[in-house]
This record gives sequence, C-alpha cells and structure tokens, in this order.
Amino acid sequence: MRHIISIRDMSREEIDSLLDKSEYIRKKDKYRRSLEGKLIALLFFEPSTRTRMSFASALARLGGEAIIVDSVEGSSISKGETLADTVRVVSSYVDGIVLRHPKEGAARLACEFSNVPVINAGDGAGQHPSQTLLDLFTIRESMPLDGIEVGLLGDLRYGRTAHSLAHALTHYDVRIHTIAPRSLELPNSTLSGLIRMGAKVIEHETLDSVINELDVLYVTRIQRERFPDLATYSKVSLSYRLTPENLADVKENMIVLHPLPRAGEIDPSVDTMPQAKYFRQAENGVPVRMAMLEEVIQ
Ligand code: NCD
Repeated sequence: MRHIISIRDMSREEIDSLLDKSEYIRKKDKYRRSLEGKLIALLFFEPSTRTRMSFASALARLGGEAIIVDSVEGSSISKGETLADTVRVVSSYVDGIVLRHPKEGAARLACEFSNVPVINAGDGAGQHPSQTLLDLFTIRESMPLDGIEVGLLGDLRYGRTAHSLAHALTHYDVRIHTIAPRSLELPNSTLSGLIRMGAKVIEHETLDSVINELDVLYVTRIQRERFPDLATYSKVSLSYRLTPENLADVKENMIVLHPLPRAGEIDPSVDTMPQAKYFRQAENGVPVRMAMLEEVIQ
C-alpha cells in the first residue's frame, strides 16, 4: 500500500513520472473514469478552499466520490477522540484518506492506523506534498526544473508549502534563495536537513537584492494561525508586499508563484503582469491531484 506523506519520501523519478501523468491528464484526459466506485474521505481539520475543492473535483473527474468532514466541531474529535481512532474507523469505510491536520506529523501517524492509502494535505508547519507537486508542475510549464534560481519569500518558519518545495528542489539542479522577515527564517533543522540533501541555499535580507537573479519567486503568506500570540504576529505582518515596481527589471521569463490564499503579500496590480502564474498554479491542482489519487488508490 502506498501513502503520500512527505515529498522527501519520493525520488526524482517518481516525481517526474507523476508530473508527466498530470500533464497528460491536463492536456488530453480531464475526465477519466479510472476510480469509478471508489470512496475517498477528505478529513480536513484545518481551513482549506483550494486543496479540499481540487481534491473533490479531481475525484469526481475520476468517477469516484468524496465523503467530506471539514470541521473538528462536526466530528467526534470534539468529543476527545484520538486521531488514531478516527483514522482506524474511517479507513474501514473508504478506499483512501486525504488528511489535513494542524499538527506536524499527523499524516505520518495516520498511516500507521489506516488500512487504506493516506495522502497528506498539509500537517501543521510540516509538509504539503500535493501543493509541491503542483508547484513543480507549474514551474515546468514555463521552464526546465534544472539550472534555475528559485526565491522563497515570506514565512519560511511556519510555511509548510515552502518547506515541502525546498525539499523537492534538492532533486534538481536548483539554487534556493531565501528571503524572510527576521524571526521567520527557515528553522535551523530544516536548513541543515536541506544542506545534507545537497541543497544550495543562499539567505537574503531583502527581496530587491536578489529579485533580478531569480527565475521563480515563490511568495508565501505569514501563517498567522501558527503564531503563539497576536503581538508577535503584528510585528511581522505586512512586512513585505510584491508590487509591479519590484518586477521592473526581472529576467525575461521569470514567474511569480503563490500557493494562495494571499493576505496582502502580492498587490493585485501584479495579477495582470506576464509573470503572475499563481491562478494558473491553483488551476493545476486538479490534474496533479487526479494523477496522485490514481497513483495511490488503484
Ligand atoms: C497553503 C496551506 O494550506 O499550507 N494553502 C494551500 O494549500 N494552497 C498555504 C497557506 O495557507 O498559506
């Protein structure tokens, strides 16, 4: 049985083959009935629009059905049930589980108690493999994944999308540039893990000092919900905002990505610029999640 818990568990070959399959689905086969009759539980114990809806859309396009639990209040977790018990029972009802949970490590724990494949749809500040695959897919639509300079801007401390993407990029010949407000830099353990995996990481204090070198700028939201208190959040909120002026002298084919939702980090006037690929990126969530579901459920 195959689970998708962390992008670190996947080899470059596995990633590339999933991206190839996603591309085929996107271009040629948006409605295939390969999961007809399959039931998948979408257990979302944290807010989500894109991830939850694109998994549901992906599943419907594959002919399967989603059973959605999208609040702690509406489930027995609010009665004190452990995640282990919830997963043990739910896995006897369905053919697969997609789990989003506020605690890092939750998906790894879930797969120990599940009789069916588990896909991690985000575990706290940990990993978000389906987002990373669609991020890579979107980059690959514009340029090869090797030989590029990728900037990660924003909350690199709590942002799971940045953590996941950085890990995936270690499979490719990519230089990673981190640009984060002080106190929101990559955790030391993540940074040393990346370096052990062979990553080339360069830290920057300001976006302006590096933006013109980048092929990809990956902007992230400050993860307000993971801050210990509001005062600490207020100190860093709105400390960066991408505007058309920042993009005046960038490389010709440079692109801007963002996992969304945004909360002020990208000025809406950037949306119509040729570099803005974040809505395309969100759209790519459907074919990529179709490929993932097909891979683990069959
Ligand atoms: C991200 C997440 O949930 O980690 N959103 C998403 O899945 N597209 C990013 C975020 O919430 O900032």
